[in-house]
Amino acid sequence: MYNSRIIGLGKYLPDNVVTNDDLSKMMDTNDAWIQERTGIKERRWIREGSDDTSAVMGAKAARIAIERSGLTKDDIDFIVFATLSPDYYFPGCGVQIQDMLDMPTVGALDIRNQCTGFVYAVAVADQFIKTGMYKNILVIGSEYHSGGLEKSTRGRGVTVIFGDGAGAAVMSRIEDNTKGVLSSHLHSEGKYAEELTVLGPSIKHWVPQILEDNDPNDTSYYPYMNGTFVFKHAVVRFSEAIVEGLKTNNLKKEDIDMLIPHQANLRISQFIQRKFGLRDDQVYNNIQRYGNTTAASVVIALTEAWEEGKIKEGDTVVLAAFGSGFTWGSVIINW
Ligand code: ACO
Repeated sequence: MYNSRIIGLGKYLPDNVVTNDDLSKMMDTNDAWIQERTGIKERRWIREGSDDTSAVMGAKAARIAIERSGLTKDDIDFIVFATLSPDYYFPGCGVQIQDMLDMPTVGALDIRNQCTGFVYAVAVADQFIKTGMYKNILVIGSEYHSGGLEKSTRGRGVTVIFGDGAGAAVMSRIEDNTKGVLSSHLHSEGKYAEELTVLGPSIKHWVPQILEDNDPNDTSYYPYMNGTFVFKHAVVRFSEAIVEGLKTNNLKKEDIDMLIPHQANLRISQFIQRKFGLRDDQVYNNIQRYGNTTAASVVIALTEAWEEGKIKEGDTVVLAAFGSGFTWGSVIINW
């Protein structure tokens, strides 16, 4: 029986740093509020005039991941791309990666699961590898949020949280089923879809309609988030997904070597850390520097933790996320 293992990781963050003080020049907010509520000090936003997009950043991260994996683009059998900010309404970014990286005409799948996107993407890739259908899969999480945020006081509850960036992983077949991805756990609760959403453009909220209505109070282009409601669900669901993963593999919380939580809010990560009795060095956080990069956040954090030597062979690594949908999930890895 086959298993899948991450054999290469890469990330790309735009070089344009936007501090909380920079935001306070665009809207009524301040460094103290943002840091106290979210832990965020700065984020990266794609510079005006840059060619970066979700697909372009994803390709940049992917090139690094492929090189580090020791494979070449021609060895990749399939692409899985997670984003909520695709370059086009359709097609998805996966096919753009196939073209940008000049890869063989392999299949490409887009995942639309927001902050849980990378966790879902890893689970999908893992299953393709476990069944023997594919050997090497490129998995990408990438988000270009800054182009779609409301940069005024009206949008401040959402805008200050989100950042741009991308990460990529190469997952490959191994024959030792005690190593690599041990299990994945995916959940959703669609009745809360509108608690965290962008309504348009979509078929229901199409651009001509919005323009025709010409309502200055129409915020349907911008993300809406019922922050407190999302927060309360996040802390519960994050914990459930981790417990489910541990139980499935007969592991205890003491067995976790590294938890990579989706970087939604430092307060959420700290709550989970306390709940599972983990030390600071067992939980990786970089939201302070990058904000919430949604589908990219777990893979960027995983890449950094690995680059900093904080993950070593044999470690139990837990990926966990919660986000719009609602969706949530976890992946348990024996690194
Ligand atoms: N600066 C200053 N004041 C602000 C700002 C800001 N940027 N934003 C909101 N406020 C004000 C509000 O207007 C409100 O003022 P009022 O009391 O006078 O009405 C006050 O601050 C409190 O606002 P809340 O929204 O209640 O603040 P809260 O403490 O809930 O923090 C936050 C907001 C940070 C968004 C928090 O709720 C949160 O992190 N939620 C979870 C986010 C999350 O996990 N998202 C999931 C992933 S995202 C995805 O899937 C796309």
